[in-house]
Amino acid sequence: MSNTLAAPKGIPEYLPPVSAAWLAIKEALARPAVLAGFGYVELPVFEETELYVRGVGESTDVVSKEMYTFADRGGRSLTLRPEGTAGVIRSVIEHRLDRGQLPVKLWYVGPFFRAERPQQGRYRQLQQFGVEAIGSDDPALDAEVVGIADDGYRSLGLTGYRLELTSLGCRECRPAYRALLTDFLAGLDLDQPTRERARLNPLRVLDDKRPEVRAQLQDAPLMLDHLCADCAAHFAGVRELLDQRGTAYVINPLLVRGLDYYTRTTFEFVHDGLGAQSGIGGGGRYDGLMAELGGQELSGIGFGLGVDRTLLACEAEGLMPGPATPLDVYLVPLGAARAHAPRLAGELRAAGLRTDQLFGERGLKGAMKQADRSGAPYVVVVGERDLASGAAQVKSMASGEQVAVPLDGLVGYLDSVVRTTDSPVLWTDSAVPGTDSTSLKEQQ
Ligand code: HAM
Repeated sequence: MSNTLAAPKGIPEYLPPVSAAWLAIKEALARPAVLAGFGYVELPVFEETELYVRGVGESTDVVSKEMYTFADRGGRSLTLRPEGTAGVIRSVIEHRLDRGQLPVKLWYVGPFFRAERPQQGRYRQLQQFGVEAIGSDDPALDAEVVGIADDGYRSLGLTGYRLELTSLGCRECRPAYRALLTDFLAGLDLDQPTRERARLNPLRVLDDKRPEVRAQLQDAPLMLDHLCADCAAHFAGVRELLDQRGTAYVINPLLVRGLDYYTRTTFEFVHDGLGAQSGIGGGGRYDGLMAELGGQELSGIGFGLGVDRTLLACEAEGLMPGPATPLDVYLVPLGAARAHAPRLAGELRAAGLRTDQLFGERGLKGAMKQADRSGAPYVVVVGERDLASGAAQVKSMASGEQVAVPLDGLVGYLDSVVRTTDSPVLWTDSAVPGTDSTSLKEQQ
């Protein structure tokens, strides 16, 4: 029997070189939100179970079947966060952010946990980049939020997705529609589990993918045909503003989301290259959630974009976000020059050049093999003789060309030959993503 340890089932890991694309995706998605004035929040990865029961809804699959719930040592019931919205609202209420300037605009990124059956694109630890904007029901805010997601995907070069949009009405118009739909469903030939689903939330039956159910749903009443005047005007406003900003969408009146808090504008980004797990992101308004969690009667809107699925979408479209090479420079110090290598590497790094060096004693042949494997486009060889003459040999790995460069001009020389678009893209640089996060390389 093997005693090799492995990561828990259904949890993806991202290692170099793919992890560089992973970081670049998070940056690219976050950048439009930062540019629109959203502030970053870092929130707990687990919360009181009650938050999700009240916030997300007991009848949802997420809450009823997929939560990682445990008792802490004090006997409190805690749950690994399955989604981000409820936690953000809890935090806004707790820290009274809603008493200041409105709307409150926040963004977050990180892991979420759902005990789902794992498959490609469906994981038990998933990552989302999300935004929440609380305290305004202006359709312009809906257009801004939807536009931020669309801009993020587009900045990655993605084109094979569509934005599906609908309105789920409000507490004025939805109950009457819900009753109408319940009556309609009662007249259909449905199996027992589907009837039970209809009882808990009839709207979710509209999402049934089975052909025999779909066929029966053709004449189902649609929420969009039963919006109250306010909701209809709001939805028209959102569509007009999206048209104006050039964000393409399709209306999908059957769009149903897996969480209970949605009202009015609701949307999903669907990618065609991913098979069954095609939802790369989704969100909407949640006009009753603040009050449900004990806060003021304030409306809000947000989204969660699946970072794992966005990476799969990039791969499906042959896109590799992030720097084209893992390094800019590889330093090969030989003999006595080894004593100078850490300082030299430090100078190159201080100039923003991603620099690694050869460690340990090697002959030139072995050293150049290491240099080649490093993936750096430029290799700097410094031997004892170079040191004496005050120069280093700089080799371009692409052309094979080698030039002698004075040591005191080395940083300037390398800085000029390394293309600026390949500069480091580091998530940890600051809360504000780097300026070059949209640099994309077509995969060779
Ligand atoms: P959600 O639709 O449940 O919404 O999740 C958002 C996105 O997270 C999905 O579109 C998908 O890309 C990704 N995702 C969800 N589950 C998995 C999984 N098991 N494996 C991989 N990716 C997954 C929410 O969570 C809402 N909180 C979004 C929101 C924010 N609505 C308003 N504000």
